[in-house]
Amino acid sequence: MKTQLEAISTQAKLAITEAQTQAEIENLRVKYLGKKGELTAILKQMGSLSPEERPVMGQLVNQAKAEVEALITEKGELMQQKALEQKLKDETIDITLPATEISKGKLHPLNTVLNDMIDIFTSMGFDVVDGPEVETDYYNFECLNVPADHPARDMQDTFYLAENLLLRTQTSAAQIRTMENRKPPIRVICPGRVFRADEVDATHSPVFHQIEGLVVDKGITMCDLKGVLEEFAREIYGKDTAVKFRPSFFPFTEPSVEVDVTCSECGGKGCRVCKGSGWIEILGAGMVHPNVLRSCGIDPEEYSGFAFGIGLDRLTTTRYKISDIRLLFENDKRFLDQF
Ligand code: DAH
Repeated sequence: MKTQLEAISTQAKLAITEAQTQAEIENLRVKYLGKKGELTAILKQMGSLSPEERPVMGQLVNQAKAEVEALITEKGELMQQKALEQKLKDETIDITLPATEISKGKLHPLNTVLNDMIDIFTSMGFDVVDGPEVETDYYNFECLNVPADHPARDMQDTFYLAENLLLRTQTSAAQIRTMENRKPPIRVICPGRVFRADEVDATHSPVFHQIEGLVVDKGITMCDLKGVLEEFAREIYGKDTAVKFRPSFFPFTEPSVEVDVTCSECGGKGCRVCKGSGWIEILGAGMVHPNVLRSCGIDPEEYSGFAFGIGLDRLTTTRYKISDIRLLFENDKRFLDQF
């Protein structure tokens, strides 16, 4: 029986040393130490021994069991340790690998220029107001002193949605809505999209942007208009920029002007951008027509005002030397990433 015990014990120790996985170790624990295990089985044979032999043999078996148990625990811990090390090794992060690039969004150049303009005008005390893009004929034309049969309607090719409903051709419609809702003194700008059925080319788009300005108060004159526009032009184009008023015609202003600024490309010497003139036209303006004031319930005997409409797209293309207005609307990321 002793020999049998020694054989089992040696065999068990060898098997434990050779075991490669935790599962194998667990199988060995069952095989030798489990309820039906080989070492446990030996204990069951003790009945056949003499009373003197029994304690001696019992001690030997218990000792062998303890040894095997200890070996199994030790090997088990070793394997757990190894498994952990392997896991850490497999899961290491290579911090030298280049990271995936996160592309950041940016402001569209139109918005950058618009934000600058809003800063300039709000610093002069203007509020920013909004108006609808779908307008009625009344606000876009009628109330701006352009009755149905007025030849000035030909100046703007209009997208009609229904008999009296259209896509606004000018932000000037916002003037009327403002005067209906506010009492003078009024100082507002209204930036927004406008729409005209124009043929698309490098300088024309059926959608473009305007910033309308309106000031109404007692004693407002053309000098105030000139002062505000000069200040604006210097802020946008630099302090040496000059402003030139040319007489013009708009049905909703009297007198009306078109306003040129020193060409920012050549400083006024004349170049390709300003077609040799040294000037660039940036806006239309004038003193608000008495008919317009009257139709908004403002007495032209008591109040006067000026208005202007600036094209945002032209301002943006000249500032960034963009040769084709269509680039502003295509939303090609390769183009937009340059700003
Ligand atoms: N609405 C005009 C246009 O689209 C621009 C304009 C001219 C606006 C004179 C005004 C103004 O407010 O007073 O051509």
